[in-house]
Amino acid sequence: MINKCLFPAAGYGTRFLPATKATPKEMLPILTKPLIQYGVEEAVEAGITTMAIVSGRGKRAIEDHFDISYELEHQIRGGSKEALLSEIRSLIEKCTFSYTRQIEMKGLGHAILTGETLIGNEPFAVILADDLCHNSGEGVLHQMKDVYEKYQCSVVAIEEVPMNETQKYGVIAGKLVDGTNDTYRVSDMVEKPDPKDAPSNLAIIGRYILTPDIFDILRNTKAGKGGEIQITDALLEQAKQGRVIAYKFKGKRFDCGSVDGFVEATNWFYDRIKS
Ligand code: UTP
Repeated sequence: MINKCLFPAAGYGTRFLPATKATPKEMLPILTKPLIQYGVEEAVEAGITTMAIVSGRGKRAIEDHFDISYELEHQIRGGSKEALLSEIRSLIEKCTFSYTRQIEMKGLGHAILTGETLIGNEPFAVILADDLCHNSGEGVLHQMKDVYEKYQCSVVAIEEVPMNETQKYGVIAGKLVDGTNDTYRVSDMVEKPDPKDAPSNLAIIGRYILTPDIFDILRNTKAGKGGEIQITDALLEQAKQGRVIAYKFKGKRFDCGSVDGFVEATNWFYDRIKS
């Protein structure tokens, strides 16, 4: 069973400066809802209600968002605007939120290791809130949970990207599992390869299910590409033992960590509510 979802949310979000100078990237809204709330909703749809957030300096707005604002609630009680808070209120009622801080931003792998104290010794989900996913049926994490239940090992979500974009992603090599057309047993993974060195165009996006031995591996993982501790390098250790599945998810994903992806998501969600 997957009971907890980790949200690494300590990154600086430099691509969104100056907006992210004093505002967490995860709080930037697509229409009226912050990115991290979409992520929490996806975890809830997958049956998870324990949220573990790795935050950092300047990220207190995330904690305030998942808490009651008495003054505001009092102000709008009984009025037409009260309904605007109903989704976030129901998340606060359903879920528990716990936090820890990453003191030095040493990369995604390091952020996940920082979350060990909130996760403990059990398999867990990871959502990078700046990758915004949408599917009209089961959500992406829900689909991945089903894959985990079948294979009982780490699962990464992948999508096909244009070959000239491989340097933005972790890229996998693997073989389709017999009888499937969307599930690969991973044999190799490379972080942000040049197209000429990429083993495929199957890129890892910001959704993972990880078995807890990843923490010991991360503790022994040296800084890799960009001087950061990379989750891809730690996952490669599991992949060498045949313990990583890559799953081509159903649905759409927007890279809201980039300005282009953020605008695309905004337009897509706006068109959706207007049509
Ligand atoms: P990104 O690579 O998007 O980095 O991190 P970033 O700092 O957020 O943004 P840019 O590139 O400077 O614009 C991917 C995810 O990993 C988290 C980020 O918060 C984001 O969810 N992260 C990254 C951490 O929590 N800690 C880190 O040290 C690095």
